[in-house]
Amino acid sequence: MSGKILITGGAGFIGSHLADELVHAGYSVRVLDNLDAQVHGGRRRRPAYLHDDVELQVGDMRDFGAVRRALQGVSVVFHIAARVGVGQSMYELQEYVSVNTLGTAVLLEELARAPVDRLVVASSMSIYGEGLYRNGCGSPVPGTRRSFEQLRRGDWELVGAGGSPLSPLPTPESKPVDLESIYALSKYDQERMCLIAGRAYDIPTVALRFFNVYGSRQALSNPYTGVLAIFASRLLNDRPPLIFEDGLQQRDFVSVHDVARACRLVLESGVRGRSLNIGSGRGRTVLDVALALSDALGKKSIDPEISGRSRVGDIRHCVADISTARELIGYEPEVRFEDGLLDLCAWLRGQPAQDRVSIASAELHSRGLTIEANPLRVADGTPSRSPIDRESRHPARKGRTREPRGRQAGEAK
Ligand SMILES: NC(=O)c1ccc[n+]([C@@H]2O[C@H](COP(=O)([O-])OP(=O)(O)OC[C@H]3O[C@@H](n4cnc5c(N)ncnc54)[C@H](O)[C@@H]3O)[C@@H](O)[C@H]2O)c1
Repeated sequence: MSGKILITGGAGFIGSHLADELVHAGYSVRVLDNLDAQVHGGRRRRPAYLHDDVELQVGDMRDFGAVRRALQGVSVVFHIAARVGVGQSMYELQEYVSVNTLGTAVLLEELARAPVDRLVVASSMSIYGEGLYRNGCGSPVPGTRRSFEQLRRGDWELVGAGGSPLSPLPTPESKPVDLESIYALSKYDQERMCLIAGRAYDIPTVALRFFNVYGSRQALSNPYTGVLAIFASRLLNDRPPLIFEDGLQQRDFVSVHDVARACRLVLESGVRGRSLNIGSGRGRTVLDVALALSDALGKKSIDPEISGRSRVGDIRHCVADISTARELIGYEPEVRFEDGLLDLCAWLRGQPAQDRVSIASAELHSRGLTIEANPLRVADGTPSRSPIDRESRHPARKGRTREPRGRQAGEAK
């Protein structure tokens, strides 16, 4: 490979870890990032964590001149830049479509003029909507949307024809897309636009569908970011994590180090024209994750607050089937969740954390984007605000690790 690698959005959480991974592997890295205030604060300075060897160009994806300058001498592009808040995308529609969709269009017009050797775009599990499920006969069925009436009753789980329960299965790339938010729509735009243009202009292109990525550097002052960073911003301010529904929804939490490695593996593979899931392949409930984080931060006395509320467009379970990435790029998750959590906590202890979560929740509520279960209860009938039985909910306390229900499912990002 002759030229530099450009990472758009490379000053952010995932992009900066990818930059580390590539610099350590000997590549020369440039970043194009507008240092968005919601992620980087009002002062918009080069983040201290960005590797010294990384060249940072501050500019906007929608600015043709900035993108053209950033592409000079580049042979590989990782297109990571995006606005990333699922809930926020439901009321800042123009901003999300503009940065994510239009920004990708600008990049692709420039690449059509001067193609590169490889393009990798960050896609998202959010494009699946619900994950894959199994019906009572054992046949796989794509999960369908839950009605608002069902959510108001607090019946959180999906049911099949005739009201029979559905159980979650690992979700492969073949599961039909079901777009439930403007964010998801814009991520699908990014993915398809890159694959379409890549084919047309003979640029080997791969889309990576990231699941719930966690780790250091995720913006703690951004209430629209990943669920672990949101919980951390609450706990560091001695406030309880706010949990939607009953907390038993499952997600696939994958370490940012595994994600960065997956990106390098794609770069070094010959794969093109494909979309690959990048997750841990394991489901964990949001409640278990909140409890594990409060334990790891030494905040055991703070129980999560289970709201019994759901968000419009939220899903119940989605966990990655990572067999395609295993087969095609040799991807294997290496960071155990427990170790990843310790790594995250070590970083969190040095961080100021502004808690804007209540403001963001109120914003969604005032716009009618949350649904309150009435009467408030969790699926097993216990009142939602009753104290949490940590012993039974968090088996690590009992000296054993509970397997999530099967390799079942897994907050959509
Ligand atoms: N974090 C996750 O769990 C997750 C899951 C699935 C997909 N993704 C995708 O991964 C990518 C990175 O996410 P992240 O969590 O690191 O987010 P992040 O907000 O930390 O990073 C995004 C970066 O893009 C930059 N950016 C935003 N708008 C821009 C613009 N107009 N021009 C140039 N730069 C701009 C921001 O300043 C930021 O540095 C995104 O595409 C996101 O959709 C993330």
